[in-house]
This record gives sequence, structure tokens and C-alpha cells, in this order.
Amino acid sequence: MFQVTQERPGDKPNIEKLLDKSFGTDRLQTRVAYALRSDVSPLPELCFVMRGPSFLCASIRYWPVLIDGQQPCLLLGPLAVGQAWRGGGLGKILLGHSLARAKILGHGAVLVIGDPDYYEPFGFAAALADNLTLPRPVDPGRFQGCELIPGSLAGLSGPVTPVA
Ligand SMILES: CC(C)(COP(=O)(O)OP(=O)(O)OC[C@H]1O[C@@H](n2cnc3c(N)ncnc32)[C@H](O)[C@@H]1OP(=O)(O)O)[C@@H](O)C(=O)NCCC(=O)NCCS
Repeated sequence: MFQVTQERPGDKPNIEKLLDKSFGTDRLQTRVAYALRSDVSPLPELCFVMRGPSFLCASIRYWPVLIDGQQPCLLLGPLAVGQAWRGGGLGKILLGHSLARAKILGHGAVLVIGDPDYYEPFGFAAALADNLTLPRPVDPGRFQGCELIPGSLAGLSGPVTPVA
């Protein structure tokens, strides 16, 4: 019934509606991750949606960022599943699918700001982001890293910034 496909240009209005409902219409001002996304486009090859026959029910996107101004890395998010479909495993399917794709494409590491209980089973750990800083602090434990290539975050420190 549901299918994971790459995001298409025509999906944008429905994704915006989904994000408005999931994170609020003030998310650009209130959420730290958006400070790393302004004036930057998500990576189209890593933007996926889950769709049914005539509706879009979930979305995941990834953005390019730099660690300490030089080390490329991915920033995951937002991940949102429409209220009617939550708890049915769609979020985890999108997460698993996109992380696998990122690995195939050769990306070394992914950062996320989110609930550790949700992301830890996919290999995310706050310890991997311990020495990295965001534009604004977030609650302890929510800023996490995941190494798609083992050791890719080892020894890295400094600010996470948008790709200019
Ligand atoms: C968080 C979200 C993406 C999860 O998607 P989903 O399809 O409902 O989740 P899944 O069905 O794949 O996973 C369900 C499991 O995750 C857990 N879970 C769901 N939301 C969670 C959260 N915010 N924190 C921790 N665990 C969560 C559930 O308890 C369930 O656990 P179980 O498998 O042990 O029963 C979805 O609830 C959502 O869009 N929420 C609003 C936006 C949001 O908060 N996005 C995440 C940003 S970090």
C-alpha cells in the first residue's frame, strides 16, 4: 500500500503541510536545525517520501553541513510521518532506507537533533557529537552522530555550519 520514492518537485506543498502540522509553522525560527538549512537546499538524492495511492504520508530529508569549516557531513531532518499513520513503522522504514542509501553513496557520517530513543537503534549516539557545537545549544543527548564509515567522526571537533 505504501511506497518509498525519491521526493519529486511536486511533493513540496504537501511536505510543507506535513511539516507545518508536525513541527509548527514557526519551526524556521524556533528549531536549531533550521539555522543550518537556511539558504541551502536538501540533497535531492537523499530526500524520500512515503506515499499511498493518492496521498503523501511521510517525508525525510538530508542537508549538507560542514564540521569545523572543512569536513563534509550530513544533517538528517526533518523526519515526519502524518498523524494518521504514526506508530505503523513508516518512520523507521524511511530512516533505514535513507541511511542505507547515504552509505551506498559514500557519505561518512550523519548528524541529527532528535529523540535518542528513536535514533539509537540506527547507530546514532550523543557521544559521537560530543565535541561538535551547534549554532544554539539543544537539550542534552538530543544532538547525535552516526558513523556510516566507521571512525569518520573520530577526532572531529568544532562548529557545525551550513555549506555556503
Ligand atoms: C517521530 C516520528 C517520525 C516517528 O514515526 P512513526 O512512523 O510514528 O514511528 P515508527 O512507527 O517508525 O516507530 C514507532 C516506534 O518509535 C517510537 N517512537 C515514536 N516517536 C518517538 C519519539 N519521538 N521518541 C522516541 N520514540 C518514538 C514508538 O514508541 C515506537 O516504538 P516501538 O517500535 O518500540 O513500539 C513521528 O511520530 C512524527 O512524525 N512525529 C512528529 C515529528 C517528529 O517529532 N519527528 C522526529 C523529529 S526528531
